[in-house]
Amino acid sequence: MNKKTIDDINPQGKRILVRVDFNVPLDAERNVTDDTRIRAALPTIKSLLERGGRVILMSHLGRPKGKVNEEFRLAPAAKRLSELLGQSVAALKDCIGDEVKAAVSQMKNGDVVMLENVRFEPGEEENDPELSRRMAEMADVYVNDAFGTAHRAHASNVAITKFVKECGGGFLMKKEVNYFQKCLEKPARPFVAIIGGSKVSGKLEALVNLTRKVDKMIIGGGMAFTFLK
Ligand code: 3PG
Repeated sequence: MNKKTIDDINPQGKRILVRVDFNVPLDAERNVTDDTRIRAALPTIKSLLERGGRVILMSHLGRPKGKVNEEFRLAPAAKRLSELLGQSVAALKDCIGDEVKAAVSQMKNGDVVMLENVRFEPGEEENDPELSRRMAEMADVYVNDAFGTAHRAHASNVAITKFVKECGGGFLMKKEVNYFQKCLEKPARPFVAIIGGSKVSGKLEALVNLTRKVDKMIIGGGMAFTFLK
């Protein structure tokens, strides 16, 4: 990937705002039932912590449409991350504001906190520069490792890059972009794409684009039913 990554960043003593995709499924007791996305962000989080960074995580969960909704709080994801990391991960009650700034100002090198769901803010999905400016206030560095959300032009992954001086991609982002580059620029043939997922609406453009490049496309997952219908 010919973009800046955390390999090029020295996190020592810095406040690193990391956009992750912890949009994970929860059961009725609000336990994470599939932690794949949390595990996928571990290499980036661990690398920043081991090198003396102060890691401030932010993510969305579900589609609360700009309003606080208890069902979509990120505390369960913070709890699971804390188990995986073997260290405490404080789940803050907001993603901007004085309380968040106060909590961040108390952080020490090697600490990690989880901000509240960025989609509780109406400006998130509008890519609002004012919201991203306020998010950026608490960061020296911005790292995006939210590959699963990279197709969304939202405040926490697009507008924010205008307000933090040093920005780069995380290891998950780098790994996925490298796979894409290899497959799309010089694929071994026959080139077969196997696509899954539940929501077809957000993937149509990518599917159409892929039909020009692949020899065969296989659709699976929940969206196969849309195609069958
Ligand atoms: C996903 O689960 O596909 C990503 O987290 C993006 O979520 P969204 O489709 O609600 O934007």
